[in-house]
Amino acid sequence: MRILAIESSCDETAAAVIEDGRKILSNIIDSQVETHALYGGVVPEIASRGHMQAVVRVTEAALREAECTRDDIDAVAATCAPGLIGAVLVGANFGKALALSLGRPFLPVHHIRGHIAANYLAYPELEPPFLTLVASGGHSLLVMVRGYTEFEIIGGTRDDAAGEAFDKTARVLGVGYPGGPKIDALAQKGDPKKYKLPQSHVKDAPLDFSFSGLKTAVINLAHNAGQKGEEIDRASLAASFQAAVVETLVPRLGLAVRQTGAKHLVCAGGVAANSALRAALQNLAEAERCKLYLPPLALCGDNAAMIGAQAYYEYLAGNLGASGQNAYATAEITENLCRKRG
Ligand code: KG4
Ligand code: ZN
Repeated sequence: MRILAIESSCDETAAAVIEDGRKILSNIIDSQVETHALYGGVVPEIASRGHMQAVVRVTEAALREAECTRDDIDAVAATCAPGLIGAVLVGANFGKALALSLGRPFLPVHHIRGHIAANYLAYPELEPPFLTLVASGGHSLLVMVRGYTEFEIIGGTRDDAAGEAFDKTARVLGVGYPGGPKIDALAQKGDPKKYKLPQSHVKDAPLDFSFSGLKTAVINLAHNAGQKGEEIDRASLAASFQAAVVETLVPRLGLAVRQTGAKHLVCAGGVAANSALRAALQNLAEAERCKLYLPPLALCGDNAAMIGAQAYYEYLAGNLGASGQNAYATAEITENLCRKRG
């Protein structure tokens, strides 16, 4: 089964053709990052307009690269939640209209389910159940994936997502947008033990965490140094911050492994590209004798291939979008987008 998938939830317009949920026939990503970098972050209306301008071109490129015509496509999928709503609506509505014009099913996909499914494309043997750490720009979650469309949230952030914390710290350090890759690169040259930064603990919820205290500590440190006219060691602050994020996420995943008895670990989302996080996850997997699945770097960030992978399993579960299918700015990973109201 060939699925044409569209992704437009943030600042990447992407289209891909995926066969049976596992094989990438094409994967086109048109990034608006240079436009948004001028503003230091994503400007929602500019993102929506950018998707509108790019979506036809990107879709045609995906069909061309897959050596497919529209008639070869068995279903059309699109991210329908969560994300910047104006941006999501462009891809979702385009996907729905394309499905209608071809007389094929439309498959609404949850973006975070897609991030997890990126691993199905890289690892043919990977099947649920497995335990997942989701760390993206908008979400940080510990999720037990019981089946391809069956999820249980067992922990998560009480405030900022990990990627958001990276992006905010990058702004404070003046390294620009998007922050994650820039902090990762800067941290290579720094000492992760130089600055003492706080760890978060949520009372009576050992699998939950928070990044707001860490973010405030970095802001205060930079501000105080600025007032005293002192130079901060930006590379070491980046490294100390990155180490604090890793120290927040990885031990909680370890606790979740011991609580659930999981033997298979998956990481998903943009922050899964982080070099320190990947190294710490390898160590954890060895210590806990688990098999670890890390998405290849090219599939960590937003792409449509991952949406096409998840869409296949949504199709098998009968989750077809009706003509009135809506899109949503927020939706839990546990929610079935075909049945969501409003
Ligand atoms: O998953 P994603 O592409 O978007 C959402 O679904 O939210 O994640 C984007 C996030 C951004 O916050 C970006 O700064 C972060 O992932 N990111 C990284 C790295 N590469 C991307 N964070 C840390 N280290 C990286 N190497
Ligand atoms: Zn994403």
